[in-house]
Amino acid sequence: MFFEPINIAGIEIPNRFVRSATHEWMAEPDGTPTSRIGDLYEELARNEVGLIITGYAYVNPKGKSDHLQQGIYDDRFIEPYKKIVARVHQHGSKIVIQIAHGGRQTMITAQNPYMLAPSAIVDTTKGITPEEMTEKEVLETIENFAQAARRAKEAGFDGVQLHCAHGFLLSNFISPYTNRRKDRWGGSTEKRTQVVLDIISRTRELVGHEYPILVKLNVTDGFKPRSHKRTLDAPESIEIAKILSDNGVCAIEVSGGIAEAGDELFRTNIDLPEKEAYYRDYAKKIKEKVTVPVILVGGIRSKHVMETLLKESYTDMISLCRPLICEPDLVIKLKNMETEVAKCVSCNLCSDESGIKCNYNFSR
Ligand SMILES: Cc1cc2nc3c(=O)[nH]c(=O)nc-3n(C[C@H](O)[C@H](O)[C@H](O)COP(=O)(O)O)c2cc1C
Repeated sequence: MFFEPINIAGIEIPNRFVRSATHEWMAEPDGTPTSRIGDLYEELARNEVGLIITGYAYVNPKGKSDHLQQGIYDDRFIEPYKKIVARVHQHGSKIVIQIAHGGRQTMITAQNPYMLAPSAIVDTTKGITPEEMTEKEVLETIENFAQAARRAKEAGFDGVQLHCAHGFLLSNFISPYTNRRKDRWGGSTEKRTQVVLDIISRTRELVGHEYPILVKLNVTDGFKPRSHKRTLDAPESIEIAKILSDNGVCAIEVSGGIAEAGDELFRTNIDLPEKEAYYRDYAKKIKEKVTVPVILVGGIRSKHVMETLLKESYTDMISLCRPLICEPDLVIKLKNMETEVAKCVSCNLCSDESGIKCNYNFSR
């Protein structure tokens, strides 16, 4: 079951394992991807991860979220990405680049002193209020995403994934908590989804109708504000997944959580099967509604749970982030029956600004 191929918009993925997008802190300060990133992806491909999704790549320096984050905002990035893609393809895996704008989670620096978001809603975790984007800025950002997708195609990526999760710009647009706009990009569920549809339409003009566009979608903001303001959750997020799949999105990766929800998106203490796959019920509902493949991420750790998720139609693909930082050869180990459960203890020490790695002391 794990090793049955699956097709996403004409791209054959050799098995059901996905490396979920993971920021590596391994790019140059200007966003240029390095051979260190290539080494990492090649290792995952050599170890039979069917689909590798890159760390989030910023489409405009005004939407950079973190140090040493990879970028795709200029044509000069096409050549270095070509080399990385070729290293993955030689092992038979596929590779998709995740493209993002930081929105409410943009990094404020001397060169970039403003944070842009759909509405000026304070981020209570940092006490920073972003600037509400003007219509011109929204239109420029749509173009930035589309040009990034064009570069991705030219670099040979098998597709792009729009980062519509975790409190970054596109997730700010779809959430009623962070989007209070009164123009065509705010209000009803459809209007809050419109910016993503506009990105898809413009991208299609540049890359054609066949090129795979995936999304990583927040199904919940993951917290309840004291103000009783509405946040994103089911059933609205399920409806958004349906709108996206009806409008040219080729696969939906299910995730959740924004800054205010703390570690919600990468929960800790996943030490029981019941705590695993914490967005599974959302994924199942989405799978019942859409015809495109569903990819589930978040706390998936044991073989038994993985099998159940596929067998009982919760998801079409198993997506892993922290377990593959800890054990890049996890897929091979599962294949060779050398393990039943990932070693990852979900401690989050892998978020390491010197480059992601497992920093848990197993000999303790
Ligand atoms: C170090 C680190 C970096 C991450 N970077 C990204 C990213 O660039 N884009 C993204 O969508 N999610 C990112 N995430 C979230 C993961 O892709 C994933 O959704 C989350 O960790 C839950 O999955 P897991 O339990 O398999 O780790 C990151 C998580 C970690 C721990």
